Amino acid sequence: MNDQAQRLRDMVKNSNIRRQPAGSQNSASNKNCRSLAVTSGKGGVGKTTFSLCLATALAALRKKVLLLDADLGLANIHILLGIAPQKNISDAVSGECSINDTIITAPGNFDLIPGASGLEALANIDTGRLERLRLDFMGLEQQYDYLLIDTGAGIGSVVTHFASSADVALLVMTPDPTSLADAYAMVKILYERGCTKIQVIVNMVSSDKEGAETFDRLNTLVIKFLKRPLELVSVLYSDRDLKRNVRTQKLLAKECPNSKYVLKVGMLARKLCGVVNAGSQSFFTRMWSGLSSGG
Ligand SMILES: Nc1ncnc2c1ncn2[C@@H]1O[C@H](COP(=O)(O)OP(=O)(O)OP(=O)(O)O)[C@@H](O)[C@H]1O
Ligand SMILES: [Mg+2]
Repeated sequence: MNDQAQRLRDMVKNSNIRRQPAGSQNSASNKNCRSLAVTSGKGGVGKTTFSLCLATALAALRKKVLLLDADLGLANIHILLGIAPQKNISDAVSGECSINDTIITAPGNFDLIPGASGLEALANIDTGRLERLRLDFMGLEQQYDYLLIDTGAGIGSVVTHFASSADVALLVMTPDPTSLADAYAMVKILYERGCTKIQVIVNMVSSDKEGAETFDRLNTLVIKFLKRPLELVSVLYSDRDLKRNVRTQKLLAKECPNSKYVLKVGMLARKLCGVVNAGSQSFFTRMWSGLSSGG
């Protein structure tokens, strides 16, 4: 038992020997990292696209950003970026390397922890392994201004743990009626798990009116049945350039800096930078507490 504790301590110690985070020339090390989990319930609503654009926008604001591809079933951020990482989170989980060894600097000048695809063991990660990861991550969090977590679809326990452990859950939805139902299910679970801050992004709309109406439908349900209103923080238009950039594996924020989508995400990034985080505990401390208490 003592040996195991010592190993964990050694891992934390080793994880403090770090590479320089992307953007580290920009600002002093921040001990108050803000965690933002991008989540949705329904798949394919634009979480990953939005995560990439937000990470780039925050980095452009001279923030040190770490993006975690937490879609443990179907990780694809590195594919969208057209990069082939040598290590990914599964190597860190299996103990083949430290989490620090998996970090790469992405084209948007933020750091990325690549996820792993099709690994059922990872998608159903057990608490012992998660604890090891948490310790490794705790040293990391202190080096960044923002930890952005791109979660997978669905309302499974891993996704909802990630989302409810963050300072802010950024809930992406679309006008599609099935997105409304799935977003409501996600909000319900997040509230049950003690999540205090859910901010909504309505994506793939054709007008601000459609965005506001879509949000109102969800918020009306949430107020009626869950008694706590949500906050709408951004409405993002359908953008043809997104599809093209996905095909060419180019970052929209770099290729089309003046697209409405990119400008709106940039506005949101500036808004988020003015918001204080939810508490003194780090993301992984909260995440682990929830798991160890069976929550
Ligand atoms: N505002 C938008 N306008 C047009 N297409 C969009 C927009 N946002 C996302 N898309 C497109 O929708 C598709 C799904 O996007 P994305 O992969 O980001 O969704 P996701 O929520 O991460 O999916 P998953 O649940 O599978 O992880 C992609 O082809 C993407 O280019
Ligand atoms: Mg995704």
